[in-house]
Amino acid sequence: MPRLVSLSRAAKLVGITRGALQKKIHDRELESFEGQVKLDDIERIFPDAVLEDNHIIEDLEKIVEKALKKARGEKLAKLLAPDTHTLAARLQNVTKDHASTKTQINKFKELLTETQSKILELSKTSSTPERFTELSNWINDSIGKIQTPDVEPTSILKKDTVLRVMAAQVHITNTGHEFFVDGSNSILEAGLSAGLALNYGCSNGNCGKCKAKLISGEIKKIKPHDFVFSEAEKAQNYFLCCSNTAITEIEIEADEAGSEKDIPQQNIPAKVKKIDKNSDDVLILNLKTPRTKRLRFLAGQNVELSHGDIPPLEIPIASCPCDDMNIQFHVPYDDSNPFIKYVSETLSNSDSVHINGPKGSFVLDENSNNAVIFIAFDTGFAPIKSLIEHAVTLEHAEFIQLYWLHKNETPYMHNQCRAWEDALDNFKYQHQQLDMTDIQQLESKLEPVMKEYPDLSNKNIYICGAEKMANKTQEILLGHNANSDNLKIQVI
Ligand code: FES
Repeated sequence: MPRLVSLSRAAKLVGITRGALQKKIHDRELESFEGQVKLDDIERIFPDAVLEDNHIIEDLEKIVEKALKKARGEKLAKLLAPDTHTLAARLQNVTKDHASTKTQINKFKELLTETQSKILELSKTSSTPERFTELSNWINDSIGKIQTPDVEPTSILKKDTVLRVMAAQVHITNTGHEFFVDGSNSILEAGLSAGLALNYGCSNGNCGKCKAKLISGEIKKIKPHDFVFSEAEKAQNYFLCCSNTAITEIEIEADEAGSEKDIPQQNIPAKVKKIDKNSDDVLILNLKTPRTKRLRFLAGQNVELSHGDIPPLEIPIASCPCDDMNIQFHVPYDDSNPFIKYVSETLSNSDSVHINGPKGSFVLDENSNNAVIFIAFDTGFAPIKSLIEHAVTLEHAEFIQLYWLHKNETPYMHNQCRAWEDALDNFKYQHQQLDMTDIQQLESKLEPVMKEYPDLSNKNIYICGAEKMANKTQEILLGHNANSDNLKIQVI
């Protein structure tokens, strides 16, 4: 019986994105069975994923690392090994499955043997007994094949078994989202890392905002929590995502933010982790939030930064919501702005900065799988970087194109964009120098977009930059077929 696995699991097994597998299904290179695929087909299409038997775990780690690297487009994430109890529980489950498969095979064998006796009985009264004998011999041969003592499981099947021990899959039934819990990570941590906007507050078992309902499968508490469930909630299998890991594949009902309106306003005391002043016209400010007060936001949103009496600065977040403790900002040098002057001249590592927010609706349209075109002007790249990292983590778009128009010959995060292009099959990056005071040049600078995409009507377009440039870009693209419903603009 062929083993069927979900697209997420198959993608994780061979270290590619779900989108790449969906494309193979779309191109009829891979057959899909109600959203699942055959392991045998995966092994046939991706023969490079075959492993040496004695290196299964090491190779699996590399595959998972490669998948994470592809998803984030940055440095390798570490595969966490499950703790002893989780490992034992997952092994017990795999063993249970193995025993039940063996029992099923034995029942099928018995059934075949009985069928064979019936055929032989029928052959005695038949005018064509040789046809019955032929059938009986065929069944005999088939049983013989099942009885071969050393039937080798395929490499992909072995790998799938190891993956089930190392990571458990979570299905959110009310939204259809899926993700994996590596090692003994909390379900909340794993869901956020996968780019989902799961509801949460303290991350520490106090507020109860991360509660979810367990529909099927097994979970395990990984830390005690103060939040108390009502008797009714207990009876309905409610649990805290921040305090539990998944032992087996699980199905849950959980709240996810559907739009910016679902994200609460927060006031978080953060610390400066690093200030990077390598560029002449922009500094990169990295803040770290406390572990128990992380910033919930949607990719593309702004926050207000403040310190003491200095007037606050509203600025886009440049990092991914999947890393909610490490928040990045791209601050353009501007001596006339007191907060920026303070950041560039006085602020140093470990100093405190307050984060208020988030705000803004320059967020990803997660209901559409259209190809996405991002157009950034100078530090308008910041929210677009956040959107790109989020889209890549979610495996959201079939194709992502970034155009970065910059006053310098080489944009300040040029290497980061090139690294994305190298790591991701569905990402393309182009940049051009542009005098930001000369709006007349804009049309010719946007020509590559129009040439490459003569039909912009089915593309989702996100534009971010100074008011004049962003508005003019919108006007030009709307004049070239772009659909106003699919176009979002953010002025900085
Ligand atoms: S996030 Fe507060 S209890 Fe889980």
